[in-house]
Amino acid sequence: MTLVKNLDKKEITYKFPQNFWWGSASSATQMEGASNIDGKGKNIWDYWYEQEPYRFYDEVGPSDTSQFYYKYKEDIKLMKEIGHNTFRFSISWSRLIPNGVGEVNKKAVTFYNNVIDELLKCGIEPFINLYHFDMPFELQKIGGWENREVVEAYIKYAETCFTLFGDRVKKWFTHNEPIVPVEGGYLYNFHYPNLCDFQKAVQVAFHTILSSAKAIQKFRELGLEGKIGIILNLTPSYPRSNHPSDLKAAKIADLFFNRSFLDPSVKGEFPKELVELLKVEGYLPTYEQEDLQTIQSNTVDILGINYYQPRRVKAKENIPNPDAPFLPERYFDYYVMPGRKMNKYRGWEIYEKGIYDILLNIKKNYGNIECFISENGMGVENEERFRNQDGMIEDDYRIEFIKGHLKWLHKAIQEGANVKGYHLWTFMDNWSWTNAYKNRYGFVSVDLDNNAKRTVKKSGYWFKKVVEQNGF
Ligand code: BG6
Repeated sequence: MTLVKNLDKKEITYKFPQNFWWGSASSATQMEGASNIDGKGKNIWDYWYEQEPYRFYDEVGPSDTSQFYYKYKEDIKLMKEIGHNTFRFSISWSRLIPNGVGEVNKKAVTFYNNVIDELLKCGIEPFINLYHFDMPFELQKIGGWENREVVEAYIKYAETCFTLFGDRVKKWFTHNEPIVPVEGGYLYNFHYPNLCDFQKAVQVAFHTILSSAKAIQKFRELGLEGKIGIILNLTPSYPRSNHPSDLKAAKIADLFFNRSFLDPSVKGEFPKELVELLKVEGYLPTYEQEDLQTIQSNTVDILGINYYQPRRVKAKENIPNPDAPFLPERYFDYYVMPGRKMNKYRGWEIYEKGIYDILLNIKKNYGNIECFISENGMGVENEERFRNQDGMIEDDYRIEFIKGHLKWLHKAIQEGANVKGYHLWTFMDNWSWTNAYKNRYGFVSVDLDNNAKRTVKKSGYWFKKVVEQNGF
């Protein structure tokens, strides 16, 4: 194919370490479809969509997302074709255990076994994530992560997964971006249950961290081979200026949005300044004394880092309304940096160096723990306009985006960061929660009007080349 020839590059400026993990990531609710067949129980997305379809872009819900459930063989073949050596996906808790606790759904076991076996057959290592925003609805009815019983239910679910699939899966992750359900469900109203309640948010965060530590404990008790970690979205906080008030604002934003999960996951302890702040504000969670010990003794082996955008902040300009619900923004304002580069479709700043800053921070302050970029990507609206005569989407902007980030990642490796791989979000276009199919992220396009037909984009072919050369 001429196009692929054009992508050939003799000189490789950025060479990556041997056995670098090249691949992509996705999640059950966003790609599987088949949401109400073969015994799957409802999760909060199925329920919320039933109640308020208008909250979702073009009123497209989670029921038929991308159809991986039916097309996994074709998809895994395509992954292989575009060079994947690793792929991260999540198990749908409500597919495997429809009520959240109790009976295991045999059809789900068959499905996940098939996916794992097919990946291995194609030389692609499966990385499994246990929880990606998708609380079984039966458990949400009793409060979801607010309720400690749900932590216990999650441990049973995790144990079920380890036992069923742990003979073949060697990389496990307890949660993906656990702060997002806290933000979406309990602070800013973009996930069910759509509350604005800081006390509950803190409780949900604490229980999620506890559930992660307990799942790690269980994994180790079972004596399984392999590694277990967590995937966090780290958003480096940059102050507007060096003014002490701007610096303080950035530090507090970092405590709330990064260190709240990073410190307990990697170091086994909560940042003292954050605990102090929550105490002063009167929002400490309820817990049992031994929980802190559990968190301390069960830190992660490996850290997945999702990086999309930086967080720029400045000191507050106005005194906050004391009657407004408490939010982290009581301590800082967002700062719009003049000249920033934007992905206007998603409304996120593109700042490639952020990836390097994160990795160097992990090296310096978190024992240089083994890590990888578990998500990075660019969602673009109406990609059909870039489809060429041969039917391929020419997404040069995505290639530039990935290159820009890989250059900084490469620099971090040169400077000693212990980063083992790069996964794009995502393999094929999938359902982006309330944004549904508005923005497309994949290496592979999905034609929703044509039985979810797959077509590799230019970035997919480019990626293949990068993997073959182990660099670009
Ligand atoms: C990450 C999530 O936050 O970013 C994914 O792990 C998500 O689930 C991705 O799809 C892109 O964000 P969005 O909101 O555009 O789908």
